[in-house]
Order: sequence, then structure tokens, then C-alpha cells
Amino acid sequence: MEGKRVSESQVVLSQMMQPEHANILGNVHGGWIMKLIDEAGAIVASRHARKPVVTVVVDSIRFCAPVHVGDLVHVRARLTQVWRTSMEVEVEVEAEALLTGERRVTSTAYLVYVALDEAGRPTPVPPLLLVGEEERRRAEEAERRRVERLARRATEDAPRAR
Ligand SMILES: CC(C)(COP(=O)(O)OP(=O)(O)OC[C@H]1O[C@@H](n2cnc3c(N)ncnc32)[C@H](O)[C@@H]1OP(=O)(O)O)[C@@H](O)C(=O)NCCC(=O)NCCS
Repeated sequence: MEGKRVSESQVVLSQMMQPEHANILGNVHGGWIMKLIDEAGAIVASRHARKPVVTVVVDSIRFCAPVHVGDLVHVRARLTQVWRTSMEVEVEVEAEALLTGERRVTSTAYLVYVALDEAGRPTPVPPLLLVGEEERRRAEEAERRRVERLARRATEDAPRAR
């Protein structure tokens, strides 16, 4: 299978935050931001694999600042590393205040997707061609997160003593 670059699948989704996205404090509901994060991540993974994908892990999701109704939200997503059938996507959410142009990062997250074949089984994805120091550094960090996730999975899947 031919390799593909990070730039071939990365995406930025932009959306105006409307009153129906608000929580009781008047800021945007965290669940709505999570939906946008997963949507952007799934687009990136499907673009790379050109197969249907499912989310298998969402971790390290951080909400560092509130998003306000009326903000234009930009959701940037790109691959950090891919393995045999799974892919890690890094997502950054930035809120832009339309009247001032002020931008601030409000959330970051890492998600893992798995590509599926017609029978719904995990299927191989193209290798990721890393370009430059920055992409190689992100890929190394992704490898470390994978080790932690797989260790966690092994513990969670282990039969529990009753
Ligand atoms: C995704 C799914 C098909 C994987 O099935 P599975 O039996 O775990 O399959 P495997 O053990 O072969 O794992 C498939 C890949 O996922 C990775 N994976 C599975 N669980 C993982 C975890 N907790 N952390 C990191 N990677 C994980 C495996 O490492 C493997 O990747 P690799 O081939 O690149 O090494 C299955 O877990 C599933 O259907 N989950 C539900 C998905 C879903 O409904 N998501 C929400 C809606 S989109």
C-alpha cells in the first residue's frame, strides 16, 4: 500500500456557535465541542484510509477555556501516527471572537480510529509519510501514548476478581 502524507488528510472545520449550543451558563456545551472533535477526527481518518472508520479511544481531551455563543470555532485535525489498522488524530479547537478577531485555543484532544472492511473487521491502512522534524516528533509522542493505551486496555480487559 502506498504511503500518504499528513497534509493529504488534515482538515479544518469552522462553525458559528449558536444559542442552541449553549449550556445553562450561556457558554457552549462541552458535549457539542466533543461532537465536533470526533467529527473532524473521523474525517481525517477516513480520508487517510478511504474506508469507514470507528472511534476506538478518546483520550487526553482538555477544555482549557470556555467557548462563547457567537464565537466562530475552528476545529483543526491531523494524523500524528498510524499503525496496522488504527490511526491517532490530534485535534485542536480554537475559538475566534468575531468582533475583535481574538483567537484562543479552547480544547485539545487525541483520538484513535480503526478502519473497517466490508465485514466490519479491522483492515490495514496506508503508512504515514512523515515530513520534517515536527511531524516526526508528534509521531514519537503518539507511539508513547499508544504504549500507555494498550497497557490500559490489557488491564481493563483482564478478568476481574470478584
Ligand atoms: C474498533 C473495533 C472493531 C476493534 O476491535 P478489536 O477486537 O479491539 O480489534 P483489534 O484487537 O484487532 O484492534 C484493532 C486495532 O485497534 C487498536 N485498539 C483497540 N483497542 C485499543 C485501545 N484501547 N487503545 C489503542 N488502540 C486500540 C488495536 O491496537 C488495533 O490497532 P493496530 O491494528 O493498528 O495495531 C471494536 O473495538 C469496535 O467495534 N468498537 C466499537 C467502535 C464504536 O462503535 N465506536 C463508536 C462509534 S464510531
